This record gives sequence, C-alpha cells and structure tokens, in this order.
Amino acid sequence: MYNIQSGEKELDEARQGEALMLDNEGADNGRKLYIESYGCAMNFSDSEIVASIMSNMGFQTTTDYKEADVIFINTCSIRENAEQRVRNRLREFGIAKVKNPGMVVGVLGCMAERLKAKFLEEEKLVDVVVGPDAYRDLPNLIGQVDEGNRAVNVLLSREETYADINPVRLNSNGITAFISIMRGCDNMCSFCVVPFTRGRERSRDAHSIVKEAMELFEQGYREVTLLGQNVDSYKWTSADGSEKVNFAGLLELVALISPDLRVRFSTSHPKDITDEVLYTMARHENICKYIHLPVQSGNSRVLELMNRTYDREWYMGRVDSIRRIIPGCAISTDVIAGFCTETEEEHQDTLSMMDYVKYDYAYMFMYSERPGTLAAKRYTDDIPEDVKKRRLNEIVAKQQQYSHERLQQQVGKVQKVLIEGFSRKSELDYCGRNDLNAMVVFPASERYKPGQYVNVHIDRCTTATLLGTVVD
Ligand code: SAH
Ligand code: SF4
Ligand code: F3S
Repeated sequence: MYNIQSGEKELDEARQGEALMLDNEGADNGRKLYIESYGCAMNFSDSEIVASIMSNMGFQTTTDYKEADVIFINTCSIRENAEQRVRNRLREFGIAKVKNPGMVVGVLGCMAERLKAKFLEEEKLVDVVVGPDAYRDLPNLIGQVDEGNRAVNVLLSREETYADINPVRLNSNGITAFISIMRGCDNMCSFCVVPFTRGRERSRDAHSIVKEAMELFEQGYREVTLLGQNVDSYKWTSADGSEKVNFAGLLELVALISPDLRVRFSTSHPKDITDEVLYTMARHENICKYIHLPVQSGNSRVLELMNRTYDREWYMGRVDSIRRIIPGCAISTDVIAGFCTETEEEHQDTLSMMDYVKYDYAYMFMYSERPGTLAAKRYTDDIPEDVKKRRLNEIVAKQQQYSHERLQQQVGKVQKVLIEGFSRKSELDYCGRNDLNAMVVFPASERYKPGQYVNVHIDRCTTATLLGTVVD
C-alpha cells in the first residue's frame, strides 16, 4: 500500500477484487452479496460498514461475483481514470447480469454521490445508487429494487458517522484494522472532488472510537489506523458540552489502551498538524513514527491556486518541527504534477521540496480536472498531457531515489516489527511493518506467530522492502 506509486494507485489495486468473508448476524435470507472497493482507505472502511448492514439483512457472502445476487461496487471519483476503471468493471458485471437477470447491481460511494440519479441514465444495468452517508437506508433501497424499481439515495448528512455500527472486517489479516474517526471535508482544495462527494466534515464520538479500538485489541488486533481526510481537525464535544477531545487527545486515548496496540493515522493536513500532536507522538512509543503529509506542490503560487492555505515556507516549517520533535520520523506525501498554469520553474520547486524533505514514500499523480470543483470553474487545465507526464516521471524518478535512500539508512539497525502474516511471495517468510511503516520480510519460525512483535536485524533492502533476520 505504501510503495512508490505513480499515477493511479491507492488501496484499490492492492485489494480490488477480493470479496468479503463474514459471519452473518442476521437470519440467512438465501441471497449472496459480493462487494468490491476502490479509492482511499475510507472507502474500504465504509465497505465494512455496508457489509455489516447487509449481514444484518441476512445476506450470505461470496467471493465470486458471477454467483452473487447483489453486487456492490464502492467507487472513487478522485481522478478521471478512477471513474473509468469503475465503468469498465461495470461492463463485466453487465455480462454476468445478462446470464442472471435477477442480479442486483449497486453503485456506492463517491461516484454515486457525484453522479446521483444520472448514473441510472448512463448505466442501464445499475439498479441502485447509494451515497456515502445513506448506507443505513440499504434495507429500504434493496426492498424497492426487489419490488421492481430502481432506487437512489444520495442524501448527505451533517451528523452521520455510523458510530454505532460494528464494522465487519473484510479481507482482514486479524492484526491490523482501520477505524474511521471522522467523515467529510470542509477544506476546499480547488482540485478536489471529496468535499462534494463526502459532504461536510464531522467527527465521530470519541468514546465509540476508543471502544472500537479496545474491542479490536481484545480480539487480537495489534494495530489500528485512525482515518479521516484531515485527521488534525478532529474535534468532538459531548452532547452536554462537558467533554472536548481534539486529535492529540484522541491519539493519546487510543495509545493508552495498551502499549501493545500500535496506532497509526492518516491523513494529516499541513495547515492543521499541531506541535501538540507531534509531542503526543513523541511521548508514546506505540504511536508509529510515520506521518503522511501531502504537499501537492512545492511552489507557493501553485499552492495558493490549489487553495491549500499554506505556502512553501509553512510546509518546510512543519517538516522542521517533525524532524525536531520526532527525530527519524518517516514522512510521506502526495504530489500533483501539471496543475493549471504550473510553469517549469514551479515544477522545479516541487522537485526541490522533495530534496528538502527526502520523503520515505510518495503517491504521485498527474492533475485530472474534476467537474464541479473550484479549479474546473476558475482555471483552464492548460498543461498538455505529455508535459504532465514528463513532470510526473521526473517526480517519480526523484522519489525512487529517496525511497531507496531512506530504506538504505535502516540497513544494519534492529527494528521492532509487528508480524502481519506470511510474505506474499513465500510461506517460508513472514512480513510485517516497522514503526516507520516500511515492510520488513524475514524467515518465518514456529516460535513466532502473526500478531507478535519481534526484533528484526535489517540485513539489506530491495527497492521497496527491508529484508532481515529475527534477533532474540
Ligand atoms: N485529504 C487528503 C487527500 C485525499 S485525496 C489531503 O488533503 O491531503 C488523495 C490525493 O489525491 C490528494 O492528496 C491529491 O494528491 C490527489 N488528488 C486529489 N484530487 C486530484 C485531482 N483532481 N487530480 C490529481 N490528483 C488529485
Ligand atoms: Fe480534498 Fe483538500 Fe479535503 Fe484533502 S483536504 S480531501 S485534498 S479538499
Ligand atoms: Fe476517492 Fe472518495 Fe476516497 S473520491 S479518494 S473514495 S473520499
């Protein structure tokens, strides 16, 4: 998930196509559900809420969409190619539906929200369209479809956080889990569709978050990732106003559950990440020393056009604080190449920012204009495709160099690794992440099991992985 990535690649490719396996809670209704997720971690986390709701309706699950009665595709709108991929996948579901006309096809998530009922006009095979805040309405919507109608609910909410719904962990390794701590986004980055697809920002009840983390720990999970589009603006006040919890406070509450529960979080916005959060990280060994701090551009004029509300100097200042308060902390980023009007010099500023920070990882994209966003309304998408591509390639090449350099710096050290399971390539090896979020592969042994921490001596590294041996 955290490798160097160029262009379109998030959690989706890593886990796309894997269907869910879950214990049904409701009485078996004899019908089978298949669900597939695209986009960011929040979408994957939402699919776990959807699975829980469907399970309560009595749906059995299948890993083969061809035998499903209901197919859900949880979609992403962030870039045009993300949407294109979903449309291609719908074609494949369409072929299955021709063979099995009773099959229900549902589109969930950000594309559902962006296109609303238009989806039903554009994609004739789609029966139901459900936005990210409307999943509680699924029993009703499926009921409408069963009566022969097509159904849509894309209402956004100012309150919905699904706090009381116990997510069904999908494709889980039983060791690491996501916890959604907030929904929506109130920033208006000019390139970004998320505020339109996810609605207003709202924070989930802190007690429900801590309870979920505790339950996961009791079930044997050893790592939780707190999720939000902008976690640093997490802010929850109890109904009577007596309790107020900010993100630093929440991090601490979750970290205090057990020293054996690792805590990660994503995403931090450079304008909002506070020293209080950094000091909280420094104080707790089990809060992983890794911050995803998307820069988008290294140039202040472009950042202003992007409406990121920080400039180059502010961003560098936040990086300096991270380096001062949490020495050795890993930092990753998101970069957009070829935003409207970006000049060659401004692109160079992005490259020099990469030299300044020396990111451990980066997700790198070509700008893709999204309908309805501020940038689409105000600016012309005027950087030719080949120039965008060339700039992206330069960014990717630089990042490869720094990712390798950062891994190389870890060779020779002994690091604490949480075993997640067998490595993807071989059952003779275990894999797990170190504190800095780098993947470590080392020979498996019967003495250790997934979910345990081991000290691993890092012997060498490949382009994206550390290789080591356990030391006692
Ligand atoms: N909330 C996070 C980002 C979520 S979207 C934050 O503020 O940092 C993930 C990433 O997708 C963004 O950081 C950005 O780099 C990229 N992205 C968003 N909209 C895009 C667009 N229109 N074109 C290209 N990349 C985009
Ligand atoms: Fe999009 Fe900006 Fe919100 Fe991130 S902070 S989700 S980039 S609007
Ligand atoms: Fe995509 Fe929606 Fe996430 S647009 S990146 S799935 S919030």
